[in-house]
Amino acid sequence: MYLASSPLLASAGCSKQDDIAKGAFLNAGAGAAGLIRNPGRALDVFDFQAVARNKLPIAHYGYLATGVDGETTLRANEEAFSEIHLRPRRLVDVSDIDMGRTLFGEQWETPIVLAPVGSQNAFHAEGELGTARAARSRHHLQILSSVTTNSVEDVTTARSAPVWYQLYPTSNWEITKKLLRRAEGAGAPVVVLTVDLPVGSNRLTDQRARRRDPRDCSECHDKGPAAFFNRKPMYEGTGISGFEEFATPGLTWEFVQRLQDFTSMKLVIKGIVTREDAQRCLEYGVDGVIVSNHGGRAEESGMATIASLPEIAATIGGRIPVMMDSGIRRGTDIFKALALGADAICIGRPYLWGLAAFGQPGVEKVLDLLSAELKMVMEQMGTPTLDDINPSYTIGIGKIRAGE
Ligand code: FNR
Repeated sequence: MYLASSPLLASAGCSKQDDIAKGAFLNAGAGAAGLIRNPGRALDVFDFQAVARNKLPIAHYGYLATGVDGETTLRANEEAFSEIHLRPRRLVDVSDIDMGRTLFGEQWETPIVLAPVGSQNAFHAEGELGTARAARSRHHLQILSSVTTNSVEDVTTARSAPVWYQLYPTSNWEITKKLLRRAEGAGAPVVVLTVDLPVGSNRLTDQRARRRDPRDCSECHDKGPAAFFNRKPMYEGTGISGFEEFATPGLTWEFVQRLQDFTSMKLVIKGIVTREDAQRCLEYGVDGVIVSNHGGRAEESGMATIASLPEIAATIGGRIPVMMDSGIRRGTDIFKALALGADAICIGRPYLWGLAAFGQPGVEKVLDLLSAELKMVMEQMGTPTLDDINPSYTIGIGKIRAGE
């Protein structure tokens, strides 16, 4: 009642008196207060999600948002962070926060990395080029997807520096070789081999959204594999014949060996979620791992990656970099991942929301927000550098083994 009669709110022009009386407006977050009109207005990454949802054709938003099956894993990725609580330490000098992180000899200002995401022209006309320009202006590491809608050469130019190249293996080694040579030619220092999608996945939200899209999509879709690969410039000149060569049900560790024998790029494997596979990465001399379940878009394990992270970090034992993604939405999530053993984290959907909403400036603001949030939580926890962050700053209240 007090809120409803507050002259402060009345003068702010709030018309939803009922909502205000219930206090709903104050807690509802993005959407309740209206869509932001420019990136500068965003208070957290969810402000961009609301605009992206509103702006994108429903089929494209469905592709962005989808998980698999009943989306238990998708939800778990985000929700599991709330099963970890933080233990702030007081009276530490935090006047000089350093978020810097070195990966394979290259120094980054923060541990926040842009995950590989395909088909970015479906979200904004600038596509991967907008992402690259944002990565350049904010000096963040960008990993470019195999199924990018802009070539590795163009993206490298837009980034003004080499990017890491994500590889979807093919069942035809000749195609894979051409992709690798092209990435090397563009100066990519690292190839990121994604191993969590050897066969398809059951993306129901994606399929349902397509059915509800009233547009005639045949101009871009429904013309078979040739049209699909024609829109993916990395496959130009590879001779790829269809989706059969894109599926790799026979993928094994032998492929990892073959890749290492062929390329001079460092090899990071993306999609590792168990200690057994982390151990094999060490045995095969892999240079780094990304703990990832593809943002809940691959298998429906029900397991959040933040829950998988501790066993992998323990197995790797600091011998090679461990990165982590899936479900990171706030600075506190990043802090928790770092505390549980990640050297760096990747974001997927949050920067796509920024891209879809406003192009390059949207991605920049997403990076700014997450960097500022991470800095603030480091100040609050009393950890001036990333190396100060360790499990003792966390306590697990659910199934997640956190803390010491
Ligand atoms: C992806 N991801 C992905 N991964 C990959 O290795 N190659 C790819 O081409 C794609 N494409 C892709 C498209 C879209 C629309 C999404 C949302 C994701 C997975 C991505 O790299 C990353 O693992 C997840 O996005 C991380 O989870 P969050 O941050 O989206 O929750």
